[in-house]
Amino acid sequence: MDALTINVTNFFRDPDVFGLIEKNVLPDILKKAQEEDRAVKIWSAGCSSGAEPYTLAMIVLDAMQKRGHEQNITIFASDIDDKSLKTAMNTGQKITLKN
Ligand SMILES: C[S@@+](CC[C@H](N)C(=O)[O-])C[C@H]1O[C@@H](n2cnc3c(N)ncnc32)[C@H](O)[C@@H]1O
Repeated sequence: MDALTINVTNFFRDPDVFGLIEKNVLPDILKKAQEEDRAVKIWSAGCSSGAEPYTLAMIVLDAMQKRGHEQNITIFASDIDDKSLKTAMNTGQKITLKN
């Protein structure tokens, strides 16, 4: 598996992409979900050891705080590499987004 997967990951690994998500994508999604009283589900497919979903959680929490409205958000994370997932789970953190 190690030969097939490249597990490089970092918090805010691609700042341009996360900046786009923060400024151009997330505001509309949060607004629409609020208007329609719906939960927001985000999937980090290929999450490696978890920096990406944790980064998304930070961005979402910040966006909710800016909007002054707490919403029901679920972030799913998956990876084909068991070792990376074990590392992600061994952080011992369970994120709960609250204002
Ligand atoms: C370069 S890392 C990127 C990690 C994270 N998305 C980030 O940007 O920080 C790519 C990850 O995708 C996973 N991956 C590759 N092919 C996959 C597949 N078919 N299904 C699920 N995960 C996969 C690898 O195991 C690896 O952890």
